[in-house]
Order: sequence, then C-alpha cells, then structure tokens
Amino acid sequence: MKPNIKNIAVLTSGGDAPGMNAAIRAVIRTGIYHGINMFGVMQGYQGLITNNIKPMDARSVSNILHLGGTILKTARCLEFKTDEGQEIAYQNLKLNDIDGLVVIGGDGTFTGAKRFGEKYGVKVIGIPGTIDNDLGGSDFTLGYDTAINTVIEAIDKIRDTADAHDRLFFIEVMGRDSGCIALRSSIASGAEAVLLPEIETSVDELIEKLTLGAATKKSSSIVIVAEGHKQGGAYDIARKVKETFDHYDTKVTILGHLQRGGSPSSFDRILGSRLGYAAVNALIAGESAQMVGLRGNDIKLTSIEEALSDHSYKLENDLMEMTDVLSI
Ligand code: ADP
Ligand code: F6P
Repeated sequence: MKPNIKNIAVLTSGGDAPGMNAAIRAVIRTGIYHGINMFGVMQGYQGLITNNIKPMDARSVSNILHLGGTILKTARCLEFKTDEGQEIAYQNLKLNDIDGLVVIGGDGTFTGAKRFGEKYGVKVIGIPGTIDNDLGGSDFTLGYDTAINTVIEAIDKIRDTADAHDRLFFIEVMGRDSGCIALRSSIASGAEAVLLPEIETSVDELIEKLTLGAATKKSSSIVIVAEGHKQGGAYDIARKVKETFDHYDTKVTILGHLQRGGSPSSFDRILGSRLGYAAVNALIAGESAQMVGLRGNDIKLTSIEEALSDHSYKLENDLMEMTDVLSI
C-alpha cells in the first residue's frame, strides 16, 4: 500500500557529527523503498530559507556510509530563529510540496524544529545527531561514540609522552554544557581526574587529588577538562594548578574540532542507519514532533519536547564514582 506521505525532505543542522551520512542514506533509501519522493536540504535551515532543496535518488547516497561530516552540509542559521526566516522556510517547503521533514541535529536544531512544526503544522521527526550526547530520549546520540574513540586515541598518544617526561597534562575536550564526552573518555583513558560542566570541582580539590597521586608515586597525570567547566578551560585550570605546584611540568592540549571529524565507528554507522530508517517509518505512520532514539537496544519515539528537557541524568553516576576509585 502506498503511504499517505508523498514528499519527504531531510536536513542536517548545527554541529556536524560522525554518522550523519549513515542517517541521511537510510532516510533517503527507506523513503524511496516506499515510493516516496525524497529531497535533501543543503546547509540545514539555511537551505530551507534559500530554497536550496534538491531531489535525491538511491544512488545519490552511495558510498557515504563510512564518511564523517555531512554530504548535505550544515550551518548555524540565525535567520531561522526569526519569524520572517521561518515564514520564508515554510513557503519554500510548500513550493516543493514537502509534506514531511527529517531534521538531524542537536538541541538547537530540535528547538527550531519544534517551533516550526507547531507554527505551521509541518510534520517533523528528529534524529539526535550531536557528539555532545545532550538530548533526552536516546541513550546515545549519533557521533558520540566516534568522538569518544577519537579522544581516547589522542589521549593514549599523549600518555606515552607524558609518561616519558613525568608530566602533568590538561586535555580539553568538547562539551559546552555536557560532560558526557569528558566522563566516558576519562574512564576509557585512565585519566587521573575529570572536570565537568555539571559538577563543581574546585582547583583545591583537584590539587589535593594530584598531590595524593604524586605521593603514591604516579609518574604522569592526565586531567580531562570539559570545555564548559565553570572554573575555566584547560589553560585556566593549568595556570591555577601551576600557581600552587610550581615544580609540576604542566602541558595543555586542546583537542578541538578534530573530535567532530573522522570515519564513524561501527556503532554510529549502525545507529545512524537504524535512526534514519525509523524516522521515515515514523512519518509514514503519521507521527510528528517526535524524536527517534536508542533506549536499551530498541529504537523508540520520544516527543521532541521531552528530548529537549533536562538531560543531566545522562551523566552516568557509576562512572563518576568509578573515576575516583580507579584513578588512585
Ligand atoms: P545544535 O543543533 O547542534 O544544538 P545550534 O544550537 O547551532 O546547533 O542550532 C542549530 C540551528 O537550529 C541554529 O543555527 C538555528 O538555525 C536553529 N535554532 C536554534 N534555536 C532556535 C530557535 N529558538 N528558534 C528557531 N531556530 C532555532
Ligand atoms: O554541539 C557540538 C559542539 O561540537 C560542541 O561540543 C562545541 O562546543 C560546539 O559544537 C563547537 O561549535 P562550533 O563548531 O560552531 O565552534
């Protein structure tokens, strides 16, 4: 039976994340499999405003599953935050006869989608695509696993040289409001301490910990600092620690945007494929204003509203406790 929905568009928005291409591929091919006309919107919401919307066929998404970035490009589009921008975007959707939209992005993308959907009655399904893992309703967001793997690979290399020189390294990882990357990376890399945006850790507490490590013959130490930590970034923390511990040979590494790139892990390729497939099936089933997400090992729908609510629970408590125990 032919689905009621005829034309679906997909876009990627906000910070890119490895696995977005896997999701795009799954969205396009699932739609085509069901006889739906599929479209790609270039540069996120920017492309809705400039009418940069192009038809996509099954071959247009060949050989992209293993690629980082996004073939549809992405953007942070300020105009879409205005009523005028949203109106132009809606007129362009009508012009192209689009009756379903799949948005792949983070909390900003979802906030925009919610407003747009509510205002114009557009059927929207969200796919959580951000390395930050800062959305409710999905245990993992797309790109989070790959980003952690990238961070660990880098820290392993830094550990070699830190150990050779008996140095103290401060490594800054991404996450303006979310300590998820920092926390998981600290467990997987055996870091001596981790500083997160969600948890107050004073420099004195950190110094106490490092002192204990030095007293018990730790040769090198690694402190992971999430970029959103309230006491400042890795350079600030390193400077403050150095004020007290002049004898420490301290170094700082900011991992930066390398955390966003690279070939997606098998986990993110599979997750992107599952979420893309589920997003189109949700639209076919008449769903709207929902996000597809992974809970346990099942793909479930959560309202976009709920996905945007408090996500601090995603910082795993047992990992928090473990960092202190395992780093003695
Ligand atoms: P992410 O989706 O990764 O969190 P951003 O916060 O940059 O990235 O959001 C992506 C885009 O979503 C923004 O550039 C903007 O176009 C749109 N957006 C964000 N907040 C709103 C809002 N309140 N109203 C409309 N659009 C929004
Ligand atoms: O939201 C994903 C993210 O990578 C954050 O971790 C980081 O703070 C931000 O994007 C960086 O954004 P930009 O690429 O615009 O500098």
